[in-house]
Amino acid sequence: MRICILGATGLVGRETIDLVARAWPGAQLDLYASRDQTLEHGGRSYAVTGAAALERDDARGGDLAMVALDDDHSARYVPRLLALGYRVIDKSNTYRTDPAVPLCTAGVNGRRVGTSTRLVANPNCTTIPFALAMAPLQQRWGLAAATVSTYQAVSGAGIGPLDEFLADAKRGYAEPDRIGRPFDAGKYAGNTVPHNGKTDEGGFSAEERKLMFESRKILELPELSISAQCCRVAVAVGHSMNVWFTLGERASLAELEQVLGESARTQLLRLFPGSAGDGLSALACVADRDRALVGRLRVDPRDPSGRSFCAMIVGDNLRLGAATNAVRVASRWFASQDPALQDPAGPATA
Ligand SMILES: NC(=O)c1ccc[n+]([C@@H]2O[C@H](COP(=O)([O-])OP(=O)(O)OC[C@H]3O[C@@H](n4cnc5c(N)ncnc54)[C@H](OP(=O)(O)O)[C@@H]3O)[C@@H](O)[C@H]2O)c1
Repeated sequence: MRICILGATGLVGRETIDLVARAWPGAQLDLYASRDQTLEHGGRSYAVTGAAALERDDARGGDLAMVALDDDHSARYVPRLLALGYRVIDKSNTYRTDPAVPLCTAGVNGRRVGTSTRLVANPNCTTIPFALAMAPLQQRWGLAAATVSTYQAVSGAGIGPLDEFLADAKRGYAEPDRIGRPFDAGKYAGNTVPHNGKTDEGGFSAEERKLMFESRKILELPELSISAQCCRVAVAVGHSMNVWFTLGERASLAELEQVLGESARTQLLRLFPGSAGDGLSALACVADRDRALVGRLRVDPRDPSGRSFCAMIVGDNLRLGAATNAVRVASRWFASQDPALQDPAGPATA
């Protein structure tokens, strides 16, 4: 098996290298980034080729391409990879809204990937844990509405902003100041900021629109009433979200916990029972990188119908929210040797 990883030197690309070794040990790896370079990662040196080489006439094809580039570079290279014969998983936003391209969260709608599928879009890093936590509840009672407030880690912005954040945090906290004056109010260290400054005509950020659109597409609920507010918090890795949701039918907390607990046996979800959320945190997902963590379940007192609840959901944005999901989705085409990285739907047969 021949696998290429584009964006191999980035945060998601590096995680993908590690997971590919677990899912398909012995696969031949071709790594690409902006230029020819050597990547030191996990105690090994990897030769990385400038991605422009893929545009040469003598570029070689392969079986599977995992693309972890920004939107513009995905738009440039994905068509070329398809022409070279690769099956492609793209982790950018470029193809997510394309009705012809499946947008897949393994364990939710991985069945959308068949043997004839050539390109799959990997969802946004908040959509994946949200969909994993909501899908079992939706299947049992239906899902009518959701309101989501996110607290997203800086690594979601890529390796450059993460390294700047770590350096700024080290400098800022070195100077004792109880209200945080040493920090720059426009940056991430010591701070909470709106997800990014770019909003549409409705005032929503691209991240908020992604969560709303992608949830409807993955859960196949085009009419789902959903709204979101996204911000970044001074956390390196691990996206958290508080969710208020309304089911289609009345349910009890015990029933919710039972359904989520059953789903937790698939290795994609971990339930923290009870309302307190003991043990549930952004750092908890860095220790449990390939599952969505859900807890703090309680009744939303605003809804007398007994259909509305509050919850907290957490997921590692680099792994579950990006690289792990992509590998699990690709396991529909190429069975994973590590069972934890196999889509629970199994390999595609048609
Ligand atoms: N970070 C997350 O939590 C997360 C989660 C879900 C999805 N995603 C998506 O995954 C993609 C990658 O994110 P990331 O966080 O890994 O980004 P990143 O850490 O900033 O890495 C970007 C990668 O793109 C490469 N690159 C830059 N310019 C290029 C060019 N001209 N030609 C070819 N390669 C080029 C970089 O190579 P050099 O090292 O050579 O510059 C690097 O390997 C993005 O679309 C992002 O939205 C990210």
